[in-house]
Amino acid sequence: VLIPVILAGGKGERFWPLSRRQKPKQFLSLDGTGSSLLQSTADRLLPLAQGWENLWVITSALVADVVREQLPNLPEANLLIEPEGRDTAPAVTWATLEVAKRYGENAVVGFFPADHWIGDQAAYQNTLKAATAVAQSKKAIVTLGIQPNFPSTGYGYIEQGENEGEYEGLPVYRVSRFTEKPDQDTAKTFIETGRFSWNSGMFIFRAEVVLNELYTYAPNIIRPLAEQGTAAYATLEKKSIDYALMEQTQLAYVLPADFGWDDLGDWNALERLLQKEGQKNVELATHVGLDTQGSILYAGDPDEVIVTIGLEDVVIVRNGKATLVVHKERTQDIKKVLKLLQDNP
Ligand code: GDD
Ligand code: MG
Repeated sequence: VLIPVILAGGKGERFWPLSRRQKPKQFLSLDGTGSSLLQSTADRLLPLAQGWENLWVITSALVADVVREQLPNLPEANLLIEPEGRDTAPAVTWATLEVAKRYGENAVVGFFPADHWIGDQAAYQNTLKAATAVAQSKKAIVTLGIQPNFPSTGYGYIEQGENEGEYEGLPVYRVSRFTEKPDQDTAKTFIETGRFSWNSGMFIFRAEVVLNELYTYAPNIIRPLAEQGTAAYATLEKKSIDYALMEQTQLAYVLPADFGWDDLGDWNALERLLQKEGQKNVELATHVGLDTQGSILYAGDPDEVIVTIGLEDVVIVRNGKATLVVHKERTQDIKKVLKLLQDNP
């Protein structure tokens, strides 16, 4: 059995102003299914966890009640509440310590971001079965590698090393290098070699393996958490597990993930998800456009009218009292503008 832990403490800033502090994107339905990203993630993982008693969620105190509301079957003891977000290294560390306490250090734990879209559910289940089998039989931190199709600077890159056999019909490889969010030139050279995949952000391992690695590579994170629990948070460094562990460890493995995957990272993801053949724009609003194309339009209240003339490749979002207009290529900078907003409210 796999003990899945859903990482649900992100701020979802690149989806502002739909995503808000009190209700970031993982709690919203972005794919039109009516389920939030968190609910869809839980649904996908339940068969592997064999029921709610083995499914865990780690999130921040600010939004813990939203998790309770959206996942009413989640046992309270499986909801780990961080006083504040310190990025994923502390979250993975604390959750792994807690899972090891309950199930023992041999338990296979999996970490799953709450902001993914998965195409083929059966292939997803099969890949995770294979990952669990690898983690059980090897001292391995298993990653799932996505075939890259452009030199993205928003992902981790995994270089494939030696083949280590087959599990559930899937080949597994050693990772010879892990590079988190390279610059564009580096990303280009990686892709040209044909040896790299994108890190999907899911990690599967025996608790013991990662706890030992953290004592080696991130003692400043694991020691205080092991000794003081959540009281340590206030002093912890903000760092993601990709930098703190994955770039350092020699125990990483990669399984090719062939199930249709997307990271719903920013507004452009909606275009990949919702764009229909022959449509000029992605419209989640009443939109009247004259010579407007390649744009994404969203209104919190679908009755609100957005009128555009002669626009190309822009994102327009109206929600509550905020309106955002941004070029499609600049959506990564929403984080920067939110900082400006905070400094000059
Ligand atoms: N509990 C908790 N606490 N969860 C967090 C925190 C935190 O402080 N910070 C982020 N998360 C959650 C987010 O909600 C998301 O579900 C997940 O952790 C990943 O965080 P992101 O901030 O979305 O990471 P990323 O997309 O920049 O990068 C990661 O994912 C990529 C694939 O989507 C990395 O693992 C990359 O290497 C990877 O390619
Ligand atoms: Mg992400």
